[in-house]
Amino acid sequence: MQDEFDHDETRAVHAGRHPQRFEGVVNPPVFHASTVLSASMAEWEEKKKLRAADLPGTYYGRFGTPTMRALEEALCALEGAHRCVIYPSGLAACAGALLAYLGAGDHCLIPDHVYGPTRNFANRFLKRYGVETTFYDPLVGGGIEALLRPNTKVVYVESPGSLTFEVQDIPAIAAAAHRGGAVVIMDNTWGTPLYFKAFEHGVDVSVQAATKYVVGHSDAMLGTVSCTAAAWPALKASTADLGQTAGPDDVYLAQRGLRTIAVRLKQHWETGVRLAEWCARQPEVERVLHPALPGDPGHALWKRDFRGACGLFGVQLRPMPKEAFHALIDNAELFGLGSSWGGYESLIQPAPLEGIRTVTRWPHAGPLFRIHAGLEHPDDLEASLGEAFARMRALL
Ligand SMILES: Cc1ncc(COP(=O)(O)O)c(C=O)c1O
Repeated sequence: MQDEFDHDETRAVHAGRHPQRFEGVVNPPVFHASTVLSASMAEWEEKKKLRAADLPGTYYGRFGTPTMRALEEALCALEGAHRCVIYPSGLAACAGALLAYLGAGDHCLIPDHVYGPTRNFANRFLKRYGVETTFYDPLVGGGIEALLRPNTKVVYVESPGSLTFEVQDIPAIAAAAHRGGAVVIMDNTWGTPLYFKAFEHGVDVSVQAATKYVVGHSDAMLGTVSCTAAAWPALKASTADLGQTAGPDDVYLAQRGLRTIAVRLKQHWETGVRLAEWCARQPEVERVLHPALPGDPGHALWKRDFRGACGLFGVQLRPMPKEAFHALIDNAELFGLGSSWGGYESLIQPAPLEGIRTVTRWPHAGPLFRIHAGLEHPDDLEASLGEAFARMRALL
């Protein structure tokens, strides 16, 4: 799709919006639609032709409405993608992307730090349909070449991993994958459409759990899959065959959230780094997992490939009694205890790794937790964390 803007801030505000089509209304209206009528057989035939020629239009609710086109178009502009499809959740998008390029007898490579439910999808669902998965060390880089088989059709990447935050060498992995004829699918939720330009780094298919920063307000579930021109036919066919679509109200919320993503992300980034640095100074903390911190093992790759950092990072504590760890999480006041991330509010979540990794060993024994730095004032967040750490400390 054509891109007419020079900066992501401008793209986020303008891409995909066409007020002149809707009587000047600034935001694309919410189209609730299943049936879309044709006035005549001639129009019916014409619409069929347009759809076959892959031209965006409104043919049937499941294939998309102007509300969906607005979000697809904006994401294509921001990600630099050829086309984008919308799924009803981030996990559905991860699964849909894998299903588009894999079939019985194929082999798939997935990093060991992958989002847990994506691992489950490979281990349970893909396996049942005859796809073999090998989990690999996320830090393998170009060494992935040795793991490729003649039937390896997909190399999946997630960078950084959303629990342990290892940064992957995506260009090296993608180059090897392409030499072997495999498609590179990336869960790019941490990088967001703004901070990691997946297609400039060799990725063929970029997945966003749009539930996180695109929606940005913790009020809708959504996933998107964007791709290159070469990867589009398989993604289009598979998405249509699976009957995947998303509700118009949620799509509307996502396109509305997207308008402010650039300013929100800047604050998430700044506050996240400040809180990560604060955590790193606490004696009970063994390591902070945040690629934007200069001491992080992934920092050099992050600096080379990313344009920024979101608000999600990990904190590895030294071994301590369970009660002390629970006292920290229970009393984190401004940090709500709940799954997900990317909303305006700060969150804290334990991140146990037992049973999650199978080919690499996490070298720390203490509890791990994850923080999502929200949009509250950083002073208030730091004070809240300080109190939580003090309550934990009292039990050591
Ligand atoms: C890295 C990553 N990918 C995908 C998902 C799935 O997104 P959703 O919760 O919208 O299904 C999540 C959710 O936490 C995630 O953290």
